[in-house]
Amino acid sequence: MKVIAFNGSPKKEGNTYHAIKMVADELNNEGIEVEIIHVGNKLIQGCLACNGCTRNKNDRCVIETDEVNDWIQKMKEADGIILGSPVHYSAIGGTMKSFLDRAFYVAGKGILRHKVGAAVVAVRRSGGIPTFNQLNNFINYSEMLIPTSNYWNVIHGTTPGEVSEDEEGKQIMRVLGKNMAWLMKLVENGKGTVVEPEKEKKRKIFFTVNRSLINFALQLIDIIHYPLLQFVYLKLP
Ligand SMILES: Cc1cc2nc3c(=O)[nH]c(=O)nc-3n(C[C@H](O)[C@H](O)[C@H](O)COP(=O)(O)O)c2cc1C
Repeated sequence: MKVIAFNGSPKKEGNTYHAIKMVADELNNEGIEVEIIHVGNKLIQGCLACNGCTRNKNDRCVIETDEVNDWIQKMKEADGIILGSPVHYSAIGGTMKSFLDRAFYVAGKGILRHKVGAAVVAVRRSGGIPTFNQLNNFINYSEMLIPTSNYWNVIHGTTPGEVSEDEEGKQIMRVLGKNMAWLMKLVENGKGTVVEPEKEKKRKIFFTVNRSLINFALQLIDIIHYPLLQFVYLKLP
């Protein structure tokens, strides 16, 4: 089995890398291969919202000038995914966000379904939880399976490698790695034995009908309000 881990830090071997590595070590101990891809130092354009990927249905983003499509293919082949990001202004690092928006808009509609996915965050002080939540939004949306730890997956440090002094953070990553390996094995061993729930066609609620009804009602009020007012005034003593 294989896990693809995305390092959203601009630093190749900064704290995000170390957090991923702590999880990866546990996965390796259980015979699971991990490939770490450095995203945060690349030039990744944000999503164009062109919906080209939805129309083309070829599991590719229409932007072909960067690595995103190669990484989507890697996600497709993997059994598990790790999303790692440093905290930048209480949020996911910008380059990582651009990558995730595009990759998950393509892959999150089916390719990643029932793969195991975990998020890890490196932070100096504040913003760990919002960033963790933001990363989990991508994983949740895709019907992925999420392993947990004994706390939220956030580790503290500033200079590269400083997270190795955060004993509690190290334990969180270690426990996450063990649980992720176990969940991946459960999924693998369950194939052909435990029946997977069928994928439901996604329902989306559009409010256009209701809005046009409201508009119609407003227009009607507009048309009748004047004679109505006249009638009311005329009735007044
Ligand atoms: C642009 C920028 C914004 C940051 N914003 C925050 C922040 O909001 N809260 C915080 O605690 N640390 C913040 N930091 C510090 C990093 O989250 C912290 O140093 C982290 O360990 C970096 O991980 P890395 O080595 O993988 O890049 C920021 C760092 C940068 C470069």
